[in-house]
Amino acid sequence: MPTVYLNGTFLPIEEACVPVTDRGFLFGDGVYEVIPAYGGKLFRLAHHLQRLQNSLNGIRLENPLSDRAWKSLLSELLERNRDPADAVNDQSVYLQVTRGSAAKRDHSFPENITPTVFASSNPVPEADPAIAQQGVAAISLDDIRWQYCDIKAVTLLPNVLLRQQAVDRNAVEAILIRDGLVIEGAASNVFVVSEGNIQTPPKSTQMLPGITRDLVLELAAQHTMPYLVTDITEKQLRQADEIWLTSSTREIMPVTRLDGQAVGSGKPGPLWKTMTGHYRVYKEAVRSGTAQ
Ligand code: PDD
Repeated sequence: MPTVYLNGTFLPIEEACVPVTDRGFLFGDGVYEVIPAYGGKLFRLAHHLQRLQNSLNGIRLENPLSDRAWKSLLSELLERNRDPADAVNDQSVYLQVTRGSAAKRDHSFPENITPTVFASSNPVPEADPAIAQQGVAAISLDDIRWQYCDIKAVTLLPNVLLRQQAVDRNAVEAILIRDGLVIEGAASNVFVVSEGNIQTPPKSTQMLPGITRDLVLELAAQHTMPYLVTDITEKQLRQADEIWLTSSTREIMPVTRLDGQAVGSGKPGPLWKTMTGHYRVYKEAVRSGTAQ
């Protein structure tokens, strides 16, 4: 039975309960992070904790824990959920901080309440080899979300509805378009490759600054692969040679069909293969403790 962390205690998931008055439940008043851990090593932890801090600042909630306390809590959670029969030990940590629970339901912040801190961990399933062979399908949709998409808020109803439309159309992700420009996926960032150039939209309040996105840009620079952070129009998306989706859980996914049309050759492209190779090497360096 998985062990979770709730407000200072590790306990079996079935026993973990929060009051129905929790503002996360009533208002979606909270933020979260998803952090992979390979071989028990938290991947890009400092980046995730910085983004958590930014999200907390964005909703005017004090960080309940220091970075050191987060690290120790999450490391213990990983250890408690380690399967001794699984030598690989890849897990994905979910953490959530809500404003806490108050007796009276009121939109404005209650005074003197304690945030609710929750964390859980799940095994990372092995990557499906069909993805590297065939890629995945995506659809494009209008971005219907709010103006603070840089906050990793638990209030995810628009993302849920967008992702479900993709699933209903046998696709894995919805790529969101606002004012004719590509923004991001419902739960991922977007890259395109055009004439050998890797491109992704600049950070703004309209998108989540993905940790995987930053790493892909870092790896491109390190391995002198041409890249550009620039606006991408819907037309450029449709004419791209390659489209990639990045996230902590899906890593770098090649999109080979967009709205039912083939992307480029209709197969995962050469730059995706190269970048995925670099990503894999980096991941193994984290696992062996030579990178963070
Ligand atoms: N989502 N954009 C959105 C809207 C996201 O929800 C995510 C990740 C990303 C990619 O960010 P990162 O590379 O830091 O994972 C971009 C996580 C995985 C989730 O909600 O489960």
